Amino acid sequence: MKLYLDSGEIAEFRKAAATGLLDGATTNPSLIAKSGRPAREVLREVCELVRGPVSAEVIATEATAMASEGRTLRQIAENIVVKVPLTHEGLKACKTLTSEGHPVNVTLCFTAVQAMLAAKMGATYVSPFVGRLDDRSEDGMEVVSEMRQIFDNYGFETEILVASVRHPIHVKRAALLGADIATMPYATFEKLVEHPLTDKGLADFLKDWEKGKK
Ligand code: E4P
Repeated sequence: MKLYLDSGEIAEFRKAAATGLLDGATTNPSLIAKSGRPAREVLREVCELVRGPVSAEVIATEATAMASEGRTLRQIAENIVVKVPLTHEGLKACKTLTSEGHPVNVTLCFTAVQAMLAAKMGATYVSPFVGRLDDRSEDGMEVVSEMRQIFDNYGFETEILVASVRHPIHVKRAALLGADIATMPYATFEKLVEHPLTDKGLADFLKDWEKGKK
């Protein structure tokens, strides 16, 4: 499964890229605004640091304007993926952009039926927001499971990009369900490798090694 970082902070992209584990990136208007920097500047830097796809979201809400904004975003770097919301207008923009050869990530997906519509419109990626569903006592992973089944039933090639990931268990469950990608904040990305028994085991091995040398 591919692992993406969901952030607007260059320092976080640099650290994640240095691990060799990073496959791509997602951003959204909230994350870019939080960085306090011009969007194009942030996106250009992210695209240089991250060799894989980098999702950049449109702000327009009408299909023609979204498509035009998407084409402009695509000029920033070759690895930009245009992110559009899962609305009728977003789906129309998705169809226009993908038919022109631009990769599109349809975001803000909360049901398997919504995901199917995105796939029918040729989306390259669709992003179910599992954490936000869990937050309202719905089961985010159930949606991922249904999406996997529907995409497999009909041979949709749209990749399932699990978003709004809050912890490593989300990543594990997404992988078990056969999702293609999980995108997560840096804190979660860091936690994927951590286990206290790994740290304790290593400390014990090194201590025993030192003792044995005497
Ligand atoms: C992904 O593309 C989204 O930007 C992100 O995962 C949203 O996560 P949140 O629900 O934690 O804001």
